[in-house]
Amino acid sequence: MELFGQSETLDDMSVEDFRSAAHHLIEWISNYQEEIETFPVLPQVEPGDISSKCVNALTVEGESYQEIFQDFESIILPGITHWNHPGFFAYFADGGSAPGLLGEMLSAALNVNVMLWKTSPAGTELEEVTLDMLRSLVGLPTEFFGVINDSASSSSLYALAAARNKAFPEIGRFGMFGLPKGRIYTSEQSHSSIDKAGITLGFGTDGVCKVEVDSQYRMSQNALRRSIEEDLEAGVVPVAVVATIGTTSSSSIDPVNEIAQISREYDIWLHVDAAYGGPAAILNELRPYFTGWEKADSIVMNPHKWLFTPVDCSVLYCQNREEFSRAFSIIPEYLQGGSDQGTNLMDYGVSLGRRFRSLKLWFVLRYFGKQGLARGIRGHCKMASDFSSWVVAHPEWELVAPTPFSTVVFRYIGKDLSPEQQDSCNSQILERVNRTGEMFISDTRLDGKVVLRLCIGNIQSKEHHIQNAWNLLQKSSMQITVRNGSLSKL
Ligand SMILES: Cc1ncc(COP(=O)(O)O)c(C=O)c1O
Repeated sequence: MELFGQSETLDDMSVEDFRSAAHHLIEWISNYQEEIETFPVLPQVEPGDISSKCVNALTVEGESYQEIFQDFESIILPGITHWNHPGFFAYFADGGSAPGLLGEMLSAALNVNVMLWKTSPAGTELEEVTLDMLRSLVGLPTEFFGVINDSASSSSLYALAAARNKAFPEIGRFGMFGLPKGRIYTSEQSHSSIDKAGITLGFGTDGVCKVEVDSQYRMSQNALRRSIEEDLEAGVVPVAVVATIGTTSSSSIDPVNEIAQISREYDIWLHVDAAYGGPAAILNELRPYFTGWEKADSIVMNPHKWLFTPVDCSVLYCQNREEFSRAFSIIPEYLQGGSDQGTNLMDYGVSLGRRFRSLKLWFVLRYFGKQGLARGIRGHCKMASDFSSWVVAHPEWELVAPTPFSTVVFRYIGKDLSPEQQDSCNSQILERVNRTGEMFISDTRLDGKVVLRLCIGNIQSKEHHIQNAWNLLQKSSMQITVRNGSLSKL
């Protein structure tokens, strides 16, 4: 008793103060959305700039909302990369939307933990209902059961853990000691999250076989078959094949149907990484790219990448949910009570505590409807296709890969430049356009060359933003000249 002195409690912010702060915040967020283009997409800051300004020590008595907000505006905001900006074309564009934001606010307000059905009946059932809606929207059969994770990296890790469990059924009890070596097959162009899963699951990077790709960066079926055969001969156990629909560097699409045949033939788990490309299956005209994905054991797609849903929201679909619960279900004593009621979503991955992420996705799906979502995705693809045609028509630029979705991969080739000079030009162009604050694109390397990527995924990006990006790119290329064989800036 004495240890804690007199009884005391902490009072939350009063409802009146909360209401007034929340009104202010909503007003600020609405203005932010309206004025988003007045912010530079990329902040003009150096590493350490933000932390060095957060000099205020933690006060003894706490501070007012106004004081905290003032620091948010003066210190934090200048260090924000504005993913909501319509000129954000880097990576995959993680585009949110206003209805998604409203759902996110509500989920923060309710603050439920969707671990067992009992801890959030509505959170559990809405996740099932929403993912059924999404599943039918992208044309997957009803057998697919979905769960929401934070990221595609987690979703793929869980899928590959379930695959590992299927290949080595005793692994959950005895671990990997004494087991033969296992292998995951994926293309040279697949995302690094597959390597990370390989490391985390004990296969190591050597346990992830990088199958070669063709001239359009798609996994070679023959090379895949060859690798599997060689491994079988050497006593290595094939654990999973990971095919990608929309690879990170070039948005290439692996031949999923043919890969599915091979996986079935050898009885190997097939995981499809459609983290970016998945939502494109909403469009009937793009469905042929997805042929065969319904044969996969598991599929990941990220509504936070290309379905107007704020981060984080990654959907993992699986054909046979028991494969996942076998890999992950452990019900400790303190959670036994009521664990036999309804679905317990904690059974399908590593996290026990889970956010109420389905609420924002439900808001997005219901607000925009089938037609609206299709219009958004189709509009992005059309803009990307227009941009590609401008690149193709220009003698000093080249398209590096096909543009099946909303990502354009291209580069400046100039006139009579050596490969090294072309690389240097592209890096300089990237730096210059990103410095304008009007746009942000990223680069990567394909076949050893520096290439630029423009990805359209933001609901606010319209044709004039794409046109502006193209103008800025051309302008930047003209400001770089070659003198005496080396590049210089005008
Ligand atoms: C094809 C692909 N898969 C997986 C990921 C990982 O996504 P996340 O950031 O959700 O882990 C990415 C990231 O861009 C990706 O491009």
